[in-house]
Amino acid sequence: MAHLARRLQQFPGYPLASIPRRKRELIKAGVDVIDVGAGDPVEPPPAEITAALLEALRDPAMSKYGFQHGLPAFREAVARYHRRRFGTAFDPVTEVLPLIGSKEGLAHFALATTNPGDVVIVPEPGYQCYIGGAIASGAEARIAPLKAEADFLVELGELPREVLRRTSLVYLNYPNNPTAAIAPREYLERTVAVCREYGITLAFDNAYAEITFDGYRAPSIFEIEGAREVAVEFHSASKSFTMTGWRLGWAVGSRELIAALETVKSYHDTGPFLAVQAAGVTALDHSEAFAREVVARFAARRDAAVRAMVAAGFEVRAPRATLYLWVPLPEGLASAEFARVALEEEGVVVMPGSAFGASGEGFFRIALTVGEARLAEAAERMGRVLARA
Ligand SMILES: Cc1ncc(COP(=O)(O)O)c(C=O)c1O
Repeated sequence: MAHLARRLQQFPGYPLASIPRRKRELIKAGVDVIDVGAGDPVEPPPAEITAALLEALRDPAMSKYGFQHGLPAFREAVARYHRRRFGTAFDPVTEVLPLIGSKEGLAHFALATTNPGDVVIVPEPGYQCYIGGAIASGAEARIAPLKAEADFLVELGELPREVLRRTSLVYLNYPNNPTAAIAPREYLERTVAVCREYGITLAFDNAYAEITFDGYRAPSIFEIEGAREVAVEFHSASKSFTMTGWRLGWAVGSRELIAALETVKSYHDTGPFLAVQAAGVTALDHSEAFAREVVARFAARRDAAVRAMVAAGFEVRAPRATLYLWVPLPEGLASAEFARVALEEEGVVVMPGSAFGASGEGFFRIALTVGEARLAEAAERMGRVLARA
């Protein structure tokens, strides 16, 4: 028998792991499957970004290892974007780090900032790489449940002092996946204050910074005074520019924290493909225009989906950010069972809340990844599941 690490037992089981196989089987059997499970839109990236990639591919230099430094032009484009978008300044050489998608950066960050036995605060429901990073680094993952009655905010100040003293890292993500919650500025201020008081590093996941609606503008954590002492912010090209599979993200923060992450990454990977970084320059330099298109598409879908879901008997309000609806289920209806029946009997892939951790129970998540008509059809089918439950 293979010798395997004990830590494997600690990983809770990745929520998206088994769905693609079952989906393929159903499609093969002739079922018209509507997949609103993963946050992976059907559209390609904007044509200009693809053109930039194709052009970069012709340059032999782009086929070389990028290493952690990567393409200087990408670092500079990141710095320009942060200055333009959030009014914050970062040195492209020492305060920016290209990532192979933000996921690996978020997970590796725990290895750079925590010691075995330290506490890492992990919001739940939440994106799974936070707990993955905590487990891989031998830390103690302290689950912070996100509750509807607290607007899905993690109140660090309400945690026991002895926990905060042992905490080296907290992951926070607003606009939030999967709850679609947003963080008011005062919340960010009191959170940064607690981190500074206890010397806790803050990994602020801003993957949905550009996916906002109705005039809402998602802030950067670095708009908050003092955040540079404690925070690193993680960004992603995946959702803003529909570049999910291209694997491009970046981290910004103090020289010290960015260097720590760079050290860990140097031993795990060799940076994103340089040609993808070159395309990232085009994406970032035209971020407003590209994001506007993407947001207009998601806004139309959000409105159509909310209308159809309410008509189908669900209680759901329009979120001000992200590409998700976090939909409550009636009491007693388990989210995994709802998702199972939705897939097996109605051919709709959704994410059960429990897949994001036990605190996600009572909800399921829809991703606005398909067109309005398909979303309306999915809502009608899910309404039938609800009616039969
Ligand atoms: C909250 C959150 N953070 C990070 C990511 C990862 O994005 P990337 O594709 O850049 O790794 C996702 C992807 O779904 C996400 O939902």
